Amino acid sequence: MSFAFFKPSMELSALIGARGATGLALLAVYVTVCRVLRFRRRNKKHAEYPYKTREDFSKMTATHAWEIYRYVASLEFPFLHEKALQFALFRTYGIPTISTLLSSTRQLAAPQLAPRRYEDTALLIAEFLVHPPSHPRSNEAIARMNYLHSIYQRAGKISNDDMLYTMSLFVLEPTRWIASYEWRSMTDMEICALATLWKTIGDAQGINFSALQHGPNDFRDGLEFYEDLRTWADEYENRAMVPDKHNHLVAEETTALLVCNIPTFLRPVARNFVVALMDERLRKAMVYEPVLAIHHRLVDVMFAVRRFVSLYLFPPRPYFLRLKVVSESADPKSGRYFKEYYEQEPWYVKPTFWNRYSVSSWVRWATGRPYPGCSDKFKPEGYQISKVGPQKFEDKGSEECEVVKKKLMEGRAGVECPFAVRR
Ligand SMILES: *[C@@H]1O[C@H](CO)[C@@H](O)[C@H](O)[C@H]1NC(C)=O
Repeated sequence: MSFAFFKPSMELSALIGARGATGLALLAVYVTVCRVLRFRRRNKKHAEYPYKTREDFSKMTATHAWEIYRYVASLEFPFLHEKALQFALFRTYGIPTISTLLSSTRQLAAPQLAPRRYEDTALLIAEFLVHPPSHPRSNEAIARMNYLHSIYQRAGKISNDDMLYTMSLFVLEPTRWIASYEWRSMTDMEICALATLWKTIGDAQGINFSALQHGPNDFRDGLEFYEDLRTWADEYENRAMVPDKHNHLVAEETTALLVCNIPTFLRPVARNFVVALMDERLRKAMVYEPVLAIHHRLVDVMFAVRRFVSLYLFPPRPYFLRLKVVSESADPKSGRYFKEYYEQEPWYVKPTFWNRYSVSSWVRWATGRPYPGCSDKFKPEGYQISKVGPQKFEDKGSEECEVVKKKLMEGRAGVECPFAVRR
């Protein structure tokens, strides 16, 4: 009987030879090890935290939420998490009140200003996501964002609905993208952590959560907050995500940014893929023609291949290769920070020898695209958080930012669990 088990492999080795069989066996071992290591890290991370049941979720501290979120974003799913955040920003342009403001301020709709605004937005978001809730940099970034928003809020140009909607996408898009395309979905604990972290950020922004089912402050835990956001955002899109020429205008500019690293002759194809990534509601709101079914098929195939390769051929990303977005320490002389990662233009990237003469910089130079240190326009001297934003506001609001930062730090460090203060 035991022979019956070995028989097929003996036939196989007769077919492909002993070397081939050894190779296959090694591959099988490698694939198994990759898979096991991936799930082992997930399980180990879950064992580290005292959040096993739904009851425990309501006690999740802001700092733990941040730690869990960081491991999800920088180690487990760095690529798609980053793409999902970019797409979250993109999706907000399907709301006419948002796209109209953006195109009227001419920050995003003008080709020469679009990349800067995009980088600055991403930079402030990175600062408060990369640093823990009690960290000065996290709170300085929120204070700066609040200052920039307040100018338009006072003029009645940014509504609470738009703030709430944008925030909801930073929770919903990563979970949606990861569930659709990654090697595994986020667990309840991870979703709870993401939502708990964003609750502290939303509170620090002064967002009014009354419109949510358990709002303004009756959420059982991060998971319930997430579910409420999902329900509300869907209703809001039904109501507010409608076709508008400003949506199209801002979407076009952003798409141009997203495909700028692709050779010119391939850009029209790449655009079709961007449209294929939209659901029908967003596509109609952005006034794009439907693309061929083949584009949707190809997107699915690409993500399926990627999922297969990550799950079976790559071990989990080691800590030293974690995704870094901003420099950990300031320049000792100027006190400025640097971007460590860029896609379109090298804003705030320090032109170190390594950055300047890397393979990708040579490729960018050869294809006429900007690389670190190529021009002072991209501020190679780095940035100060309290000055990030549109040129005309660069020297405004610094003192106000300092005061708000201190207040936020006390508030966010003081609240152990953002859902414990309810009722
Ligand atoms: C939040 O919004 C609700 C409903 O619009 C309103 O009644 C409430 O006063 C607002 N809360 C704050 C703190 O502004």
